[in-house]
Amino acid sequence: MIRNDVFGHGHPLTFVKLLLGVSMAGATLCAQAQAVDVAAAEALVLANKCNKCHSVDKQKDGPSFQKTAAKYKGKADGEAKLFTHLTTAPMIEIDGIKEEHTKIKAKDDAAVKNLAKYILTR
Ligand code: HEC
Repeated sequence: MIRNDVFGHGHPLTFVKLLLGVSMAGATLCAQAQAVDVAAAEALVLANKCNKCHSVDKQKDGPSFQKTAAKYKGKADGEAKLFTHLTTAPMIEIDGIKEEHTKIKAKDDAAVKNLAKYILTR
């Protein structure tokens, strides 16, 4: 009878451990979602020749990544906006001449999102 009372309803500590486990797993997931793979982002920039028109801190034909980061600072949709910008070849204008922006070539969406995060954190 006593055994049933203790184990039948679950030990209270088990419940606490379960809660702790769930919240810790959540924190780990959040940390992973925030982390930027800088090396992968920079390699993608080079592979797509984005550096022809962009640099981290200097204005070229395109805005510096720092300028773009400042533009989207505090805006929740910054990453989504950049993802669209990089994947849909929107029209841009360079010295009065309209052309399509580079449509990025990347192995998957996650690689493009990582690059968007990288740009937004310069
Ligand atoms: C031929 C030059 C050129 C190349 C190559 C180029 N861009 Fe751009 N990019 C521009 C110009 C010009 C703008 C500004 C467009 C505007 O403000 O209308 C721009 C804008 C941007 C922006 C800002 C978008 C925003 O919403 O403010 C980002 C980020 C960006 N480019 C990233 C990249 C990446 C990453 C690559 C490589 C895949 C790349 N660009 C390749 C010229 C270029």
